[in-house]
This record gives sequence, structure tokens and C-alpha cells, in this order.
Amino acid sequence: MHKWKIKLLEKIEEKGKGLFSGKADLEAMDFLSEKNSLTAVFSRLNEKNLAEKKIKKKKFLAVFAKDFNETENTFDFSVVFHEDFMGKNGTEETLVFAGKKTRLNGKIYFICKTSRGAKNFAETMKELFGNSTTLGIRNGVRLIASEKKKGIEGKINKEIEQKNELKTEKLIEFGLRSKKYFFYSSFGVFSAKKIDEGTKLLLECLKKIKEKRILDFGCGLGIIGIVLAKENPEAGIVLLDSDFKSVKLTEKNIKKNELNNAETIVSDGFKNFKGKFDLIASNLPTHEKREFLEEFVLEAEKRLNSKGRLVLVLNKAVFLEKELNQVFGNHRILAQGEKHKVIEAVKNLG
Ligand SMILES: C[S@@+](CC[C@H](N)C(=O)[O-])C[C@H]1O[C@@H](n2cnc3c(N)ncnc32)[C@H](O)[C@@H]1O
Repeated sequence: MHKWKIKLLEKIEEKGKGLFSGKADLEAMDFLSEKNSLTAVFSRLNEKNLAEKKIKKKKFLAVFAKDFNETENTFDFSVVFHEDFMGKNGTEETLVFAGKKTRLNGKIYFICKTSRGAKNFAETMKELFGNSTTLGIRNGVRLIASEKKKGIEGKINKEIEQKNELKTEKLIEFGLRSKKYFFYSSFGVFSAKKIDEGTKLLLECLKKIKEKRILDFGCGLGIIGIVLAKENPEAGIVLLDSDFKSVKLTEKNIKKNELNNAETIVSDGFKNFKGKFDLIASNLPTHEKREFLEEFVLEAEKRLNSKGRLVLVLNKAVFLEKELNQVFGNHRILAQGEKHKVIEAVKNLG
């Protein structure tokens, strides 16, 4: 671990029960769990699984957000690691969450890049908790702490939470093939502001399909699966994502678009459910490691019925053609956009 990170983390002198949230920084979690019993909350199941595998210290508990919300725990202190893409509202929400879970007179620590508005967040913490102190700045990263003093519980109450939810959720309208769709979106999920060009290109290739059992892998807000469910009322669609927040939004979007032939699953890859499909469609998370993509191709083939299709949209700079040929024995490009390509591979093509 970098020296600057150690220097900053050493300033968290607490010993006790700690809560870790925000960005899943495995090094920081590992370090803090040396002295403390640490519970880290993950909104992405794949990150939780990775942390459980990688963290060496024993006093560490990784919890998936879905399971955590149900348990009312109070922690001696909490650490929020800033997640760049969460934006101001998302970060505020995480700080409020940490504040609520911290015991009276316990500390809420926040680790944030100066280039990402750390100074302003110090002010936000002052507003939320009535006090905030900068404990150190190293390598352009600031460590801020607030104490949860008596009398501030009222400030971090339901009202703030609700206000935040209203501020952060937005409704995206999307029209395709003479049908209108509405998608609730929020910070920290894919296509938070507008529908991705790759997603649109993939949907263009899935016009008038015949498949009856369909999987939208990595569904995000549920755009692909919801469009396919609406256009194919006879088909049954499963929408899967490892991100709890995305799945919650997808559920809301299924209701909003009045569908009764779509269901959701939280799963890390194909690990957490059974079932086979005629079509697996995906705008794959290509920022994942190469092994993830290669394993995905292998697993997807196993989860397809005979003559079933895997249809993927990929950034043009990502190549899976070789793997598709090896596993399926075929592939073809269905469409190319400015930045994306759509590839199809068929099982047992003959
Ligand atoms: C490129 S986004 C596509 C989202 C959505 N289908 C769309 O087109 O807007 C990829 C999605 O895959 C999900 N994802 C990443 N790793 C995953 C995993 N191991 N298992 C399941 N889903 C995963 C991400 O949470 C994200 O929502």
C-alpha cells in the first residue's frame, strides 16, 4: 500500500466496531481491520465476493447492502471512502447513512480527493453533524472527521433521507419502435443520465425476435429487458445485476412500464441462480477484468438452450471474437455504430 494512504489511515486511531462504506478500497479495509472489527457494506455483490476473497485480516465482515439494511447496528465509528461517480447527492446520502449507524460520540471519517471537492464536503459534514475537522492531506487526498454529538440525531433524520432520494432520482423517457418507456434512474448506476448508445444499438438488433426465455445480463436500470418484455408479451424475461441499487431501480421500472412478464435477480455473474435461456442479451461491463469476460462467454454458453443466441454489445476496442469462436464455434457482427459493435453467437449452430 502507498505510504500516503498508510499515513492517512493511521490517523484513524479508533479501536472497536467500525463501519466501512463508499468505494470498496480493499487496501484500506484490510488495514483498518487489523485493529478493529470492521463491517464493510457493499452495494455490488461482485465487490463483496471479491473483498471476502482478498481481505487477509480476520476481523472483517463483508455485507451486501440488501442484507445490511434489515439489521439495526450501531458502530463505534464509520469510514466513508469517496466513490468518484456518486456525485454530491450520493456522497451526502452515504455520509447520512454512516452518521445514522454511528453511536453517540462516535466519529464519522471521510476520505476524499481534493480534486473531487473534499473542501466542500468538509462543509457538508459540518452542516450535517455540526462539526468537522481535517485530520490530514496526503497525495491530494483529505481525511475529514466529524463527531456525532448529542442533539444532531434530528438533523440526520428521515427528512434528509427523503429529500435526498427526491433530489437523486430522475425519470428518463425513451421512445423506440413507436412505444414509450420510462426509466427511474439515480447516481451510481449505468446510464444514470441518458440511455447508452451501445444499449440502443443492441436493441436495434433485437427487433421482432422469436425467443421465449430471455436473460438481460447486467440489466442496470432494466432498459434492454424491459423493452424486450414490452415488445414480446409472450416471452418471459429475467433481468439480472450484481448491483443491488440497479436491481431495485429495475423493479421500480418494471412496475412503471406495467409489465407482468419480467422478473429480477441479484447475482454475481451466473453464480446465484439456475435456469436456461433462448436468448442472452447484454451490454457487458467491459471495465471488468479480461477473465470476467472470458468466463462470461463460457458460462453463457452453458446457460443457453440448443440454438439459443448470445447477443452482446461491446465497445469496438474490446475483442471477444476469438473466445466466441472457441466456445460457440461461430460469431457474426450484427451491427456497428460509431463506438460500438453488436456480436451474435449461436449455440449448436451445426
Ligand atoms: C454496461 S452496464 C449495462 C447496463 C444496462 N444493461 C444498460 O444497457 O443500460 C453493465 C452492468 O453490469 C453489471 N455488472 C457488473 N458486474 C457484474 C457481475 N459480476 N454480475 C452481474 N452484473 C454485473 C453492472 O452493475 C452494470 O449495471
